[in-house]
Amino acid sequence: MRTMIPMCQPDIGAAERAAVNAVMRTPTLSIGPRIEAFERKVGAALGTRHAAGVSSGTAGLHLCLIAAGVREGDLVLTTPFSFVASANCALYVGARPVFVDVDPETLTIDAQAVADRARVLVRQGQPLRAILPVHVFGQPADMDPILDVASRHGLAVVEDACEAIGARYKGAPAGTLGDAGVFAFYPNKLMTTGEGGMIVTRHAAWDALVRSLRNQGRDVFDGWLQHSRLGYNYRLDELSAALGAVQFDRLDELLRKRERVAGWYAKRLARLDGVTLPQIAAWTTRVGWFVYVVRLAPGGERDLVIRELDRRGIPARPYFPPIHLQPFYRERFGFRPGDFPAAEAAGESCLALPFFGGMREAQVDLVCGALDEALAVVRAGSTLERAAG
Ligand SMILES: Cc1ncc(COP(=O)(O)O)c(C=O)c1O
Repeated sequence: MRTMIPMCQPDIGAAERAAVNAVMRTPTLSIGPRIEAFERKVGAALGTRHAAGVSSGTAGLHLCLIAAGVREGDLVLTTPFSFVASANCALYVGARPVFVDVDPETLTIDAQAVADRARVLVRQGQPLRAILPVHVFGQPADMDPILDVASRHGLAVVEDACEAIGARYKGAPAGTLGDAGVFAFYPNKLMTTGEGGMIVTRHAAWDALVRSLRNQGRDVFDGWLQHSRLGYNYRLDELSAALGAVQFDRLDELLRKRERVAGWYAKRLARLDGVTLPQIAAWTTRVGWFVYVVRLAPGGERDLVIRELDRRGIPARPYFPPIHLQPFYRERFGFRPGDFPAAEAAGESCLALPFFGGMREAQVDLVCGALDEALAVVRAGSTLERAAG
């Protein structure tokens, strides 16, 4: 039986529809007042002063690494347990991502290991330029040790906060702790602009540079078709910006809705054997719930459970396969299984369940009931297999 529960769903209301419709009644569909208004809202609310809308989170990360001065041959420390864009952005500027394994509980980059690795690379005279921590699944990485080692060695810190708008690290908004932070607004995210992203930074010079780079390298005050540097078309259009501004006004409501759904899941899943709930670190003062990811036993159980859930009409996803084991990364850099054991264990055992703010309690019940059944079927199967073997 298909249950019609989607994996995720944007939360779009009448205010969003009215805002987008209003833009369509104007002649200005790109480079106009809506993006400026959206940026002002985000910059003011997060206290970063500068915010620049871009066409995606990936575009934002790319521009931040350029602004950080990362160049051909440089090294960028980051996590293998993320969406591939976190490492790809280093490749776009000719740099090489250097992976540091994750903390096996929180699945965020092991910040102490980052500090140790950074010190070694600097001591060896390696061209380490930046650290790119990822606030994975809406939980901030442990930023203090990262910021400390970065300031000691003059390294830039670019926070990949693509999954973490609204999250807080020791009370401070994720994305505002490093030199720059990047949010993403793809429709599965907590708030959406369709496609889109936002760079926040406290450096006026970074802000000016990313504004030029997103707009084909024009200087902000340059005339028509004056291109001062190699740029890109990474602009966020006015329709998307209008949608984003309304969603951002609703950020606290959107966060609270997802907190409620996460609470329903936690209560029900705590009763299931062999299901590990998301581990929230002491430094995380607010989770920006992006996905609801549980861990099952390593060794293939997760994939069988996904199949059983699918039979019951419940979608679920393996989340994430680690970046270093993606075919392109293996081929280009020679990474192998065993290189980052904690990320790989998470990659094998993490299961993302349907999750969105509009989810009803009865739907959570249905998912949890199906998961209970799926686990029983899979475990009975492996008991039979063991008995037969
Ligand atoms: C951790 C992380 N980084 C970067 C991105 C890239 O964002 P976008 O899809 O908007 O390019 C995503 C998006 O899913 C992400 O989850």
